[in-house]
Amino acid sequence: MKRTPANQRLALSTRCIHGTGPSPDATGAIVRPIYQTATFAHPGVNQSTGYDYSRVTNPTRQAFESTMASLESGWRALAFTSGMAAIATILELFKPGDHIVVGADLYGGTHRLIAQVSAKNGLRFSAGQDTAAIIAAIRPRTAAILVETPSNPMMRVIDIAATGEAAHKAGARLIVDNTFLTPYFQRPLELGADLVIHSASKYLAGHNDTIAGLAVAADPALGERLEALRSTIGGALAPFDSWLCLRGLKTLAVRLERQAATANGLADWLRHHPGVSAVYYPGLSDHPDYDVSQRQASGHGAVVSFRVDTAARAAHLLSAVRLIQFAESLGGTESLLTYPLTQTHADMTEEQRQAVGIDGRLLRLSVGLEEEADLRADLRAALG
Ligand SMILES: Cc1ncc(COP(=O)(O)O)c(C=O)c1O
Repeated sequence: MKRTPANQRLALSTRCIHGTGPSPDATGAIVRPIYQTATFAHPGVNQSTGYDYSRVTNPTRQAFESTMASLESGWRALAFTSGMAAIATILELFKPGDHIVVGADLYGGTHRLIAQVSAKNGLRFSAGQDTAAIIAAIRPRTAAILVETPSNPMMRVIDIAATGEAAHKAGARLIVDNTFLTPYFQRPLELGADLVIHSASKYLAGHNDTIAGLAVAADPALGERLEALRSTIGGALAPFDSWLCLRGLKTLAVRLERQAATANGLADWLRHHPGVSAVYYPGLSDHPDYDVSQRQASGHGAVVSFRVDTAARAAHLLSAVRLIQFAESLGGTESLLTYPLTQTHADMTEEQRQAVGIDGRLLRLSVGLEEEADLRADLRAALG
C-alpha cells in the first residue's frame, strides 16, 4: 500500500519545492515558519490540536517528513538528529538472536554501531561484498538485509530488486541507505525495499551546515513501529534543523544534476592521470556494477573514490589541495576530499578494511558545486 497524495502527480523536482503544499500560516508567507516550541497547549481535557510535545510531533519536522515520504514514494518518513540516530533506531526493530546481512562496504559509523552496540544487544551480523554474496549470506534467522548503494567508500552498487526479492522470500526486510543518490536519482521503495535510510546531513540538506537523518517506511505498520520507537528513544530532529533540510531540498534537483555532471567529468579526467591507479565511480562504463546502476538509478551521483599510486602521494594531495577541502562528509556545496583510512572508516578492523579495499592510497572526493575546471586545476596542482 503506497501513499498517493494528490501532489504525487507533480514532477519530483517540483515536489522538492512544493512537497507539503502552501504554508498553513494565515500571513501568506511563502516559506513555512519554524515552530520553535517544545510543547503545545491543549484546548481541554482529552483534546489536542494534533500536537502535544515536539519530541513526538512538530509541524516544521512534519513538513520535511511529508515531503520526503512523497519523494521516496513511502508511507511515512521520520526525521532524526543524525543518520546514525536513524540507523540506531531502525536496529531497535529487531530482537536478540535476529540475524542481519549487511553490505561489507558501509559507512564506518554504521560498522561501529554494529560492532560496538548492536552485537552486545544480541543481533548477529554477516557481511557480503556484492549482490550475490549478500543473498548467499541469508540464513533461516535472517530478519533484515542492510545495504548502501552505492556503498561508502568503494561505490559498489547492489541490485535492489534482486536483493529485495531474496529478502522477502526469506521473510526478511530490505533496508537501503540511499544517502549517495537521494530519491532524485534512485527510489529503493519503488524497487522493493521496505525501508530507506538517509544521512540528510549530505545531499538532502546539501550545504554542509547541518546534521540530520531520515528513515522512510514503505508500509504503515513499519512506519508506526518506528515512530513509536523514535518517540520513546528521543532522536527526533529539531525544528530549526528540519527547516534547514526543507530549505536544502528545494534545490536538490539542480544541485544533483550539476554535481553529478561535474563528478562524471572529474572521474574521467582522474583515470587518465598517471598518478591515479584506479577510479571508482558507477558512471564509468567499465565499473563492475555499471549495468545495475544504469537499470535502477537515473544518475550515478557525485562521489568519486580513487586510488593513487603511493600513500605518500595521497598524503601530499590531502595537504596540497586549496579549493577542495580535506574534511569528512559529502553531498554539500563545497567539494571535500576524505581519507577513509584515518577518518570515516578508522574504526573498522584492518582485516575488514583490506577485504573492501580501504588502504592508505584510497581517497574519496565529494564533488560540490564549484566549476569543474577550477576543481580539475586544484587536483592537477595537488596531485603533482
Ligand atoms: C552512507 C552513510 N550513511 C549514514 C551516515 C551517517 O550519517 P550522519 O553523519 O548524518 O549521522 C553517513 C555519514 O557519513 C553515510 O555516509
